[in-house]
Amino acid sequence: MAIVLTEPSRTFNEYLLIPGYSSAEHRVENVSLKTPVVKYKKGEEPAISMNIPLCSAVMQAVSDDNMAVALAKEGGISFIFGSQSIESQAAMVRKAKSYKAGFVPSDSNLRPDQTLKDVLELKEKTGHSTIAITDDGTSEGKILGIVTSKDYRVSRLDPETKVSEFMTPFEKLIYGKEGITLSEANDLIWEHRVNQLPIIDENQRLTSFVFRKDYESHKDNPLELLDENKRFVVGAGINTRDYEERIPALLEAGVDVMTIDSSEGYSEWQARTLKWVRDNYGDSVKVGAGNVVDAEGFRFLAEAGADFIKIGIGGGSICITREQKGIGRGQASAVLEVAEARDKYFEETGVYIPLCSDGGIVYDYHMTLALAMGADFIMLGRYFARFDEAPSAKLMVNGNYVKEYWGEGSARARNWQRYDLGGDAKMKFEEGVDSYVPYAGSLHDNLALSLNKVRSTMCNIGVLSIPEMHKNAKLTLVSATSIVEGGAHDVILKEASPVG
Ligand code: IMP
Repeated sequence: MAIVLTEPSRTFNEYLLIPGYSSAEHRVENVSLKTPVVKYKKGEEPAISMNIPLCSAVMQAVSDDNMAVALAKEGGISFIFGSQSIESQAAMVRKAKSYKAGFVPSDSNLRPDQTLKDVLELKEKTGHSTIAITDDGTSEGKILGIVTSKDYRVSRLDPETKVSEFMTPFEKLIYGKEGITLSEANDLIWEHRVNQLPIIDENQRLTSFVFRKDYESHKDNPLELLDENKRFVVGAGINTRDYEERIPALLEAGVDVMTIDSSEGYSEWQARTLKWVRDNYGDSVKVGAGNVVDAEGFRFLAEAGADFIKIGIGGGSICITREQKGIGRGQASAVLEVAEARDKYFEETGVYIPLCSDGGIVYDYHMTLALAMGADFIMLGRYFARFDEAPSAKLMVNGNYVKEYWGEGSARARNWQRYDLGGDAKMKFEEGVDSYVPYAGSLHDNLALSLNKVRSTMCNIGVLSIPEMHKNAKLTLVSATSIVEGGAHDVILKEASPVG
């Protein structure tokens, strides 16, 4: 006889938090959102933590090298999508890892024999006014000078004038040598009153620029997530098929943490993958696993050696797994049960395994609920897909800006490895849709708002950290009628509700 769980499986929308005592100390500026990413023993520090409890989904429409840099600047981690060749995924990881905070590869370059006309065309194209003049016109060529808008007056100079005639030549440039720290570079910028500092290697080849304006933005990102070499922390998705080739390539590229990206994690394939990692690298390589939705699935992956465990089947915004296959579980019920199993495992073994609640975040307050229910961090797809930094196209549809967002199980992504059960290497039916999400602007601005809501709710609960919230949060189920009471009601709204 089949086992039937008589409790319905519930979503975040069915819960609310009950406020606790807030003292004068419970202010948003005192809240820490620091959270562990990988398992650790009682009394020890985790090898990787995040400064905000959010990571971006392992999806083509969400996590590339650009998103990885943008999110690490804010204190989180992107898991660069794995549904691409090993080479191109490793190249994305390498690009994000080689991005040095404040050191920017030169994107506008010309040769000295080019003309003012070329300068103006390039400026129009890139929108940047600093142009490196190198022997071969590339960003890594030997630097011979720079051109900024101070060097020419369009109304007085013939467009055919050669760059070499009006550029600031190398002899007159202030520059930094490779290996210089950002703060030393900034000292030079201030001392010599320049707006940009080319950084060169021992052969006078250009490696990057440091810009005065970026100094300010660096100060804007006090939570940025850096490794011990001051490079951004970067994650990547892997699968249970080609891990023997993909993992070494990603490690070579500098990846810090990986996750097996799969719609269903309670499987021999995941255990085999984790065993291979432990056999070959011991505990030095960090790999999360999932997704599971109950205590049994958690225990299986914990014992198989996962560094963190992802929760969620069927709750993703683009997901049709529940409709197609009839498997899954409401995300709130899944997180609550797995968190209980994790706490039990911790008591028994002294090993704390962080939990990632993956998918199904619709409102910002769902983030707080997921954390209160026991998640250590949250993976989001739809949320990040709406921002400038996401890789997908921004389009105008019916008068509104939207971004494209498609599931990994859709025919568009064809990520069959994510749904692989060991058969033929191909997709048999779709488990995701291709869609649009409303365009929402910059990641930085949106994240600041969302996380302030999280911090503010934590103050209402009377907690200043995520571990404290795990212990002290009090949740209540809501009735269908009280959900109606929760929104604006019995009034005539002047504008659309600002809830997000
Ligand atoms: P969202 O934040 O609600 O948009 O959910 C994102 C999550 O949905 C991802 O992190 C994946 O776990 C999951 N997902 C991604 N693509 C698909 C798909 O095509 N079908 C089902 N789930 C998907």
